[in-house]
Amino acid sequence: MVGFCSNDYLGLAASSVASDLPQETPFGATASRLVCGDSEEHRALERALASLVGCEDAVLFSSGFAANVGALPALIEPDDHVFSDALNHASMIDGLRLARARVTITPHGASPRDVRPSAPAVSWWITESVHSMAGDRVSIEALAQHLDHGGLVYLDEAHGLGLFAGGAGLARAHGITPTVVAGPLGKSFACAGAFVASSRAVAELLRSAARSFVFSTGLSPLLVEAIRHSLSRVTGPEGDQRRALLWDNIAHLGERLGLADVPESPIIPIHVGDNRAALRASELLFERGWHVQAIRPPTVPPDTARLRVSVSAAHSASHIDAFARDLRSVFSTLGLRAELRRAS
Ligand SMILES: Cc1ncc(COP(=O)(O)O)c(C=O)c1O
Repeated sequence: MVGFCSNDYLGLAASSVASDLPQETPFGATASRLVCGDSEEHRALERALASLVGCEDAVLFSSGFAANVGALPALIEPDDHVFSDALNHASMIDGLRLARARVTITPHGASPRDVRPSAPAVSWWITESVHSMAGDRVSIEALAQHLDHGGLVYLDEAHGLGLFAGGAGLARAHGITPTVVAGPLGKSFACAGAFVASSRAVAELLRSAARSFVFSTGLSPLLVEAIRHSLSRVTGPEGDQRRALLWDNIAHLGERLGLADVPESPIIPIHVGDNRAALRASELLFERGWHVQAIRPPTVPPDTARLRVSVSAAHSASHIDAFARDLRSVFSTLGLRAELRRAS
């Protein structure tokens, strides 16, 4: 069975780091960081992750979900105006609900300026750099423009981190520093946990006001070590090699699937539309040895069920050739559109 639906884009998840962890690493943080769960190792990792995304400081959270539901309400005032991409991850939607902010939902891919040319005084743009289900990238020009006009950007780099030069996310790779960067670490970093990076002052605010940080046990020291280890692999020569393989694999699969354009990311959504047809396509692929989960509403909008195919550096060229052949044959068996296209 070969998986084509994980977020392990650099192929690091299967590796064992046991021999690299210091023998004396304790299991548990024992309490919230604000009680007695804090350590110099937590702080050092936060500084290293902040510098990866070009920020002054960062705060570790137990997951990407906890980061977004904790940071957004801590940072956004009820009077602030918020523009939130229509396809944002559930954790950002829930975080904005908790913030009780005035939210304008923007069509996927549109910038605040597209929707409202003269944006209000304090305006946040909440979006993902590489969209988790559509696989497309946010416009760097629009992000820069929003920041240049005094707007604030909260960028979730869950699916961008690790994929670009030096292991950075999309924004850093283009010389952009958003106001706040959320960095879930369960995707290319192949760990768990997340960080939220920003200025020193914002990080300090998060340490006292983000409820999922304040009222939650600090990250296990074992996980801190594992993330530190991943960070050095992702940002070092091994990361460069894996990224080169990954981007070759992305182009290769795009070509074998007959996509008109080279995919913008490892996430290649193959539109099906109907829920049952998507499930059936997933089952038939499973019978042929390929694991691709069907993604259905409410994870994606109604009538846009899809196979969310994702490519990894760990795939070989022969995996990709055989998978693309079987995918085309399954689509033809089910009478689905022969021309595979990307879905929003
Ligand atoms: C864009 C985005 N943000 C946040 C999360 C949540 O991250 P975690 O899995 O670490 O809770 C995900 C997970 O899929 C995601 O895709």
